Amino acid sequence: MQNKILIVYYSRKGENYWNGEIKNLAKGNTEAAAEIIAEATGGRLFEVETVKPYPADYYACTEAAKKELRDNARPELKSFVENMDGYSDIFVGYPNWWGTMPMAMFAFLGRYDMSGKRIMPFCTNEGSGMGNSERDLKKLCPGAKVERGLAIHGAEVSSSRAKIEEWLKSLGEAR
Ligand SMILES: Cc1cc2nc3c(=O)[nH]c(=O)nc-3n(C[C@H](O)[C@H](O)[C@H](O)COP(=O)(O)O)c2cc1C
Repeated sequence: MQNKILIVYYSRKGENYWNGEIKNLAKGNTEAAAEIIAEATGGRLFEVETVKPYPADYYACTEAAKKELRDNARPELKSFVENMDGYSDIFVGYPNWWGTMPMAMFAFLGRYDMSGKRIMPFCTNEGSGMGNSERDLKKLCPGAKVERGLAIHGAEVSSSRAKIEEWLKSLGEAR
């Protein structure tokens, strides 16, 4: 039987730092990357959303996110995946926020027993790459196999299709 693939991601629309300037993005960078992965693998997309939105203003958002990281907060989420047991191969996508995943991803993943699952992280960023996120994922999901992640420069997602597909092939996940 084919492995069941889930692509779970957090992505923030609105004002973002994009190639050195503030831009208003209709679609988040990570969401764009998640969609490419869904197309290439046939996996199911699931967006993690917080009940309380982050400030639209970029700098206000960075301050809110910094406080959440400092407090090790678990923001309330709108919904969860009900049948996580049905998925063996899980792509986890997020922007790099202060060197790791947004706390919303900690809140999401912390809800499940991910042992025995294959986790494949991808992280859009403005220069910090994966940061500490792979290490943090391993801590958060004991017993899961966390593969080497893919870091993508946020402004280059749309031109990174080949790079993403190459990564999927190296993981044996391209259909
Ligand atoms: C709160 C916040 C913190 C960020 N911290 C970092 C960082 O530490 N390193 C980095 O390279 N980029 C950082 N960025 C930039 C984002 O990682 C980058 O723009 C990403 O592609 C945004 O993805 P999204 O559009 O899916 O939300 C930060 C952005 C925000 C909003």
